Amino acid sequence: VGGAAVLGSGGLGAYYFTAKQDTAGKIAFDRALAIPPLAEAGSGASGARVFQLGIEAGETRFKDGPATRTWGVNGAYLGPTIRVRRGDLVEFAVRNDLDRETSLHWHGMHLPAVMDGGPHQTVPVGGTWRPRWTVDQPAATLWYHPHVHGSTADHTYRGLTGLLIVDDEVTDALNLPSEYGIDDIPMIVQDRAFDGDNQFEQRVPLGGSLGVIGDEILVNGTIGPHFDVTTRLVRLRLLNGSNARLYNFGFSDGRRFSLVATDGGLLAEPWETDRLYLSPGERAEIVVAFEPGERVELRSYPSEHGGTLGRLEGFDDLLDICQFRAAGTLSDTAELPATLGAAPDLAGQAVAQERSFALASDQINGQAMAMDRIDFGVREGTVEVWEVTNDNGYLHNFHVHDVRFQVLSVDGGTPEPPLRGWKDTVMLVPGKRYRLAMRFSDHTDPNVPYMYHCHLLQHEDNGMMGQFVVLGEGEQIGVVPQKHH
Ligand code: C2O
Ligand code: CU
Repeated sequence: VGGAAVLGSGGLGAYYFTAKQDTAGKIAFDRALAIPPLAEAGSGASGARVFQLGIEAGETRFKDGPATRTWGVNGAYLGPTIRVRRGDLVEFAVRNDLDRETSLHWHGMHLPAVMDGGPHQTVPVGGTWRPRWTVDQPAATLWYHPHVHGSTADHTYRGLTGLLIVDDEVTDALNLPSEYGIDDIPMIVQDRAFDGDNQFEQRVPLGGSLGVIGDEILVNGTIGPHFDVTTRLVRLRLLNGSNARLYNFGFSDGRRFSLVATDGGLLAEPWETDRLYLSPGERAEIVVAFEPGERVELRSYPSEHGGTLGRLEGFDDLLDICQFRAAGTLSDTAELPATLGAAPDLAGQAVAQERSFALASDQINGQAMAMDRIDFGVREGTVEVWEVTNDNGYLHNFHVHDVRFQVLSVDGGTPEPPLRGWKDTVMLVPGKRYRLAMRFSDHTDPNVPYMYHCHLLQHEDNGMMGQFVVLGEGEQIGVVPQKHH
């Protein structure tokens, strides 16, 4: 079976890691990179932009041999890229044509909890769910995926994933590469394991602690893709859309590139690097410069000592991801500005409440997720600091719904540049203490919770998740409504 994990070296903190799966130099890159279509919006009552999203089962031909049974949104695999602008009133008609209930969660979106698409907003078989809200957050690369408690890993792995891009005037004014599919490229990076019939292999190997780790890397559903570069500068919107795999992105010739945005939007200024980690659910926008006529591969490198996050056992693969083929002449109109967006400003703010979260053994603070238990309430309009630790040595990360957060410190020190912008998901290096500051604003509801959890989807499904509500003044934590379908 491709991607089978084997037992790592024994002893304390032993890992179950994948057999080393180097693919660098072994891929032909003979398929053109698929670019997800942009979703079209109709206009609805009171000026809402309405998007129709149909969740369906289908078949996808990823490689030679039989087609793979997959799920997708408005298609057989993945979903369209949704673009919204700050200030838009948006509405979605999410129709579920599968044979079981599912949901779509808008990862990174600030919105009312009842519109969040989490485990309490599942769409019944044959049903249509109509969330609606006004987009009120800076430009960023967000995404959507299912969030049914206990089935998030399965539903996401089958293919329900798409990008959700927020635009605003700040980013428009920067002259960053911004022509979708031309010099502004969505890259949904996923690993998949295929069985002998080309079906997705989802069995987690015995003792596997991370979930499924696949040995084939797909970008936008294309295995071994190439992209034809026609401009000197290209912006890549990278999403780690894998259930469990960690990527350490870099280029085959060691070239440097500029990180311009992280989960929650633009950095204050570009950060130049040759390596970038993304754990599951994290996004990054990078700008890469190309020379006419050249070819270079985007890769994932083994985790490294001395890298921005240190070395993580179990992620030692050298993987080819996508080949960039530059044309003989490249147009050159976009530029990399010296300054970008507003830096996070929560350091030094009055802190209403501190909380701590220890992640270990599929639990947070010794408790597994329970659908009817609201773990705590936060007050609208206040800033909280959450201290998060990975207490058992396996790879975990931490995602909070509804808000963007600022990483105040890592083990008491200033965070590395990739953690200095707005984040909604942060990788937790075992043993380190992450202090996250976040401000809760509007959308109060004492009864409908938002989630916080590890974004390794098997961990989340197993219970490494909790629930909080945002309370208005004088409000008390309520009771989670029962689902009626
Ligand atoms: Cu991307 Cu709660 O999830
Ligand atoms: Cu985890």
